[in-house]
Amino acid sequence: MKFNALLKSLVVGAVALSLPMTAAAAPIVIKFSHVVAQNTPKGQAADYFKKLAEERTKGRVKVEVYPNSQLYKDKEEMEALQLGAVQMLAPSLAKFAPLGVREFEVFDLPYIFNNYQELHKVTQGPVGQKLLKKLEPKGILGLAYWDNGFKVMSANKPLKKVADFRGQKMRIQSSKVLDSQMRSMGAIPQVMAFSEVYQALQTGVVNGTENPPSNLYTQKMHEVQKYVTVSDHGYLGYAVIVNKKFWESLPKDIRAALESAMKDATKFANDVAKKDNDEALEGVRKSGRSQIITLSAQEKAEWKKAMDKAHKENVSRIGADIVKEVYQATGYTSK
Ligand code: LMR
Repeated sequence: MKFNALLKSLVVGAVALSLPMTAAAAPIVIKFSHVVAQNTPKGQAADYFKKLAEERTKGRVKVEVYPNSQLYKDKEEMEALQLGAVQMLAPSLAKFAPLGVREFEVFDLPYIFNNYQELHKVTQGPVGQKLLKKLEPKGILGLAYWDNGFKVMSANKPLKKVADFRGQKMRIQSSKVLDSQMRSMGAIPQVMAFSEVYQALQTGVVNGTENPPSNLYTQKMHEVQKYVTVSDHGYLGYAVIVNKKFWESLPKDIRAALESAMKDATKFANDVAKKDNDEALEGVRKSGRSQIITLSAQEKAEWKKAMDKAHKENVSRIGADIVKEVYQATGYTSK
């Protein structure tokens, strides 16, 4: 072999050898843990983010989505994020107080939002941004708000009047506002991780619970609850959060691609949320396992009046300025 040809074959060989090495360079892994089913608004949006993120970074990022509390339950996932054991979560806004950020409980105030439009004035406006900033001292960055929906109440007895709640043990998320809300109705609230709710309802550890229809239906809670009251008494949605150190250590182009994936996944989440919840409620109705109760205007007014106590009791806990700003955005008036 002539010298030039030998050199050429050596170069080609070296390139060929180095190719698999480049292709095999380990991707950046984002572990995204969540507690709900894949076919919920959050579950689908997480999967869509994975798809976009991997496409737009051309495989340099791999997103591993762990649904249904497979990896961590509610409280543990927050700790795992701070420790860097996972990189991304989308916890319900009702679960931030144990982290030391109480302001998000403003979203739990009963009847504070009448519809998604009023909610978006907050989540897509300056107050929403201000709230996300409160996470930074905890080593967490808030990237977006993802919608879920308005909650129903379920139990094994019909819940129509405030008096119907008396003595009912009701599972809640870890929010003091939700604790106040249940007590204002005469019920006994019990904080419990989402992954434990189905069994607790089935075995009678608790009598009832609240959740948007998409969560109730995908966890089959309607199969262990005789009645579901469509009360729309409160909102449940999410903040998508990441470990701050991890996010800031990403190469700039990767971070930009992930931000654009998040923007589109957020639009997707907020587009499917209402439809998914409407369909889930229809699924509950069709199953015939729970009877669906619709409140009359008068009954709703009675719930609203009783639950207003949860506003009064929590203004100073949440922060009077935040509550005031949200009231201004939505028009809620506390009596
Ligand atoms: C719950 O615990 O009821 C919800 O926060 C679950 C979820 O993530 O939607």
